[in-house]
Amino acid sequence: MGNCRQSSVAVFPGSFDPVTVGHIDLIERSATVFDKIIVAVACNQEKTPLFTVAERIKMIEDIFIDSDNVQVETFSGLLIDYLKRRQVNVVIRGLRAVSDFEYEFQMALMNHKLAPGIETFFMTSSALYTYVSSRIVKELASLGGDVSDLVHPLVEEKIKDKYS
Ligand code: PNS
Repeated sequence: MGNCRQSSVAVFPGSFDPVTVGHIDLIERSATVFDKIIVAVACNQEKTPLFTVAERIKMIEDIFIDSDNVQVETFSGLLIDYLKRRQVNVVIRGLRAVSDFEYEFQMALMNHKLAPGIETFFMTSSALYTYVSSRIVKELASLGGDVSDLVHPLVEEKIKDKYS
């Protein structure tokens, strides 16, 4: 034990289109529990994203520039295949409300069935952020609403560029 302890790494996957204050809170909190968090930006979503994968990665990297144990990557294909390649067996997902549960439960069970060594850890979002989602941010911004409470200032600037 002692010096022999293996470092713990977890993957925080998502679309992050764009990253919100809710995501930031979950990443910061999980980075205090695990030695390293890999934020994995999915690039094979069917939906048309507002931001390119490169833009999404850059925003997260810039926000976490001072966090040595937060790393940002992208993946395509199945999450479990990416986890196997990276040799990580822990996935972190956030739960905001009961409505998130069914989809998250289904995904966690499916990933566990496909790759039994992989475990999903759920974190409850902070009460302050239960109503925040990337979809709400985009809808509000596209209609000229104020998103300054919902995203980091760096992201707010990029969204304004997109909709101007
Ligand atoms: O931020 P999101 O959109 O809720 O993230 C969902 C994401 C990207 C984590 C999920 O759709 C995913 O893992 N996609 C990769 C394909 C995959 O492995 N699907 C799960 C099979 S059950």
